[in-house]
Amino acid sequence: MAVLRLVALFPIFFLIFAAALPEVKVQQAKDEPYVGVNIGTDISNFLPPAKLVSFLQQQKVTHIRLYDADPDILKALSKTKIRVIISVPNNQILGIGSSNTTAANWINPNVAAFYPDTLITALAVGDEVLTTVPSLSSMLMPAIESLYSALVASNLHTQIKISTPHASNIILDPFPPSQAYFNETLSPVIVQLLQFLSRTNSPLMMNMYPYYVFMQNKGVVPLDNSLFKPLTPSKEMVDPNTLLHYTNVLDAMIDSAYSSMKNLNVSDVLVLVTETGWPSKGDSKEPYATIDNADTYNSNLIKHVLDRSGTPFHPEVTSSVYIYELFNEDLRSSPVSEANWGLFYANSTPVYLLHVSGSGEFLANDTTNQTFCVAMDGVDGKTLQTALDWACGPGRANCSEIQPGESCYAPNNVKNHASYAFNSYYEKQGRAAGSCDFKGVAIITTTDPSHGLCVFPGSKIISNRTDTVVNSTNATSGVDASRFIGTRPCKDGLWGLIVGVMFYLSIL
Ligand SMILES: *[C@@H]1O[C@H](CO)[C@@H](O)[C@H](O)[C@H]1NC(C)=O
Ligand SMILES: *[C@@H]1O[C@H](CO)[C@@H](O)[C@H](O)[C@H]1NC(C)=O
Ligand SMILES: *[C@@H]1O[C@H](CO)[C@@H](O)[C@H](O)[C@H]1NC(C)=O
Ligand SMILES: *[C@@H]1O[C@H](CO)[C@@H](O)[C@H](O)[C@H]1NC(C)=O
Ligand SMILES: *[C@@H]1O[C@H](CO)[C@@H](O)[C@H](O)[C@H]1NC(C)=O
Ligand SMILES: *[C@@H]1O[C@H](CO)[C@@H](O)[C@H](O)[C@H]1NC(C)=O
Ligand SMILES: *[C@@H]1O[C@H](CO)[C@@H](O)[C@H](O)[C@H]1NC(C)=O
Ligand SMILES: *[C@@H]1O[C@H](CO)[C@@H](O)[C@H](O)[C@H]1NC(C)=O
Ligand SMILES: *[C@@H]1O[C@H](CO)[C@@H](O)[C@H](O)[C@H]1NC(C)=O
Repeated sequence: MAVLRLVALFPIFFLIFAAALPEVKVQQAKDEPYVGVNIGTDISNFLPPAKLVSFLQQQKVTHIRLYDADPDILKALSKTKIRVIISVPNNQILGIGSSNTTAANWINPNVAAFYPDTLITALAVGDEVLTTVPSLSSMLMPAIESLYSALVASNLHTQIKISTPHASNIILDPFPPSQAYFNETLSPVIVQLLQFLSRTNSPLMMNMYPYYVFMQNKGVVPLDNSLFKPLTPSKEMVDPNTLLHYTNVLDAMIDSAYSSMKNLNVSDVLVLVTETGWPSKGDSKEPYATIDNADTYNSNLIKHVLDRSGTPFHPEVTSSVYIYELFNEDLRSSPVSEANWGLFYANSTPVYLLHVSGSGEFLANDTTNQTFCVAMDGVDGKTLQTALDWACGPGRANCSEIQPGESCYAPNNVKNHASYAFNSYYEKQGRAAGSCDFKGVAIITTTDPSHGLCVFPGSKIISNRTDTVVNSTNATSGVDASRFIGTRPCKDGLWGLIVGVMFYLSIL
């Protein structure tokens, strides 16, 4: 899981040497690259398995990774099309590596009992064992081999792959990527592992966090480069040995893994990114853990993978990735970022709204097209009132919910009412470009302004109000009700229309 990692210093090499173009042997798997999610469960109110699965389906999540082999979740996934990587926890590696019987006793109840109703695609044996539990390193390959033997015995070895996720700091000198190599102290295990992966056509699983590379090399690695933002050519990193241009840190990290394998003469193993992500909140030492950066990183990551961009070294191969992680894990301890890597809160409301339109249906239900139009901060009340009058009058926004007694009346102030009315207008215009302006006093936001019983138009929040709560007698008693009402008295209507047209023209 995401823990602070040491990443070797990241010098930028602009020196240019003669380039030998890399040989290319890796073949893209037949399947399209995909984006999956990790599901950690250090959560005080974790969704019950059936709810979890319907949430995944609603969000069109097709690939998940679990940190164990929870039987209730595996059962709930049965007969769905969701593909799952299950994990052997680190504390079971010793037992499994020591005994083929123990390995078989792991495969039977955790894998064979569910497959093929539950589409288990791979076993992740431990997590970051070589770097976090070095004492288990010598048991890693025996555990992998004995689990493989057990899969063979169940005749599941062609459908289900076995590998083990690594922290990216097993790779030294990762930049420029062509000079990267595996830490030699770990070579005995890594060489055996790569032979196994090559023989069984399984991926090298890597946890890769441009966030930590950026944090540990501030001033050297640009933030834009870490977030996949477009770069001016002068900011691209050039690998002096290959002359390849790197526009983002993740691609450089993936290529450092390919180079490291190449150094060991392995060129037919694909890299699978089992974890990557960006935290949305941190403590005072983590100023770049923000909602904006997390949104930018994950949105751009999804686009990058689904665009099949490949990497500079292997443009023909796009690694699939698993975002770390689906839910914020509130029970994880400091630093603050540890509990804030999620795309969603534990109750399945989004932490932020990804910008992934055009990238298919993945996470699109709650995430794309989720923009709202609200009143800007710091605008004087009179200007807002004029815009509000226009929106509810000639603009034909639906202002019924901001009448006294209705759900969005409180807090009773012009800013709140204007936000509701602006958003209603914006929705009615199909969120067209330019329909959220109101002479510059409105602003588009991805934060759902719904609050309490008040649900804004376009919100995916289901109102929990019962209609009987609304006391219709209250609605007519408010002194300023007519101010917002679409059905104004006629004389007002004409005046409103004139004011409105003038206002509208001035907007244009
Ligand atoms: C497990 O089985 C394999 C092949 O069947 C054998 O080579 C290996 O020595 C066994 N391991 C243990 C710990 O018994
Ligand atoms: C390489 O791995 C060994 C064993 O885990 C570790 O002690 C050493 O610090 C690592 N080397 C580097 C440069 O990280
Ligand atoms: C890789 O192959 C080269 C050339 O065949 C050889 O010299 C080198 O020792 C090999 N390296 C490893 C780690 O097997
Ligand atoms: C999003 O999810 C809701 C609730 O399950 C469902 O009613 C709606 O049809 C979904 N929308 C899309 C675009 O899939
Ligand atoms: C997002 O909005 C655009 C234009 O309003 C529409 O064409 C597209 O289908 C919408 N996408 C989703 C997932 O609702
Ligand atoms: C206005 O909004 C309310 C509450 O959302 C809804 O019940 C009503 O049908 C809407 N009126 C029109 C004319 O769309
Ligand atoms: C209507 O007004 C009464 C009395 O002021 C208040 O107690 C009640 O909560 C109001 N109802 C609504 C729905 O605002
Ligand atoms: C449901 O109502 C409560 C207040 O009664 C409010 O705090 C909560 O945010 C509402 N939830 C939704 C989803 O609207
Ligand atoms: C509705 O509001 C009126 C006056 O504000 C009050 O007398 C009446 O009790 C309220 N009815 C309900 C059901 O809240």
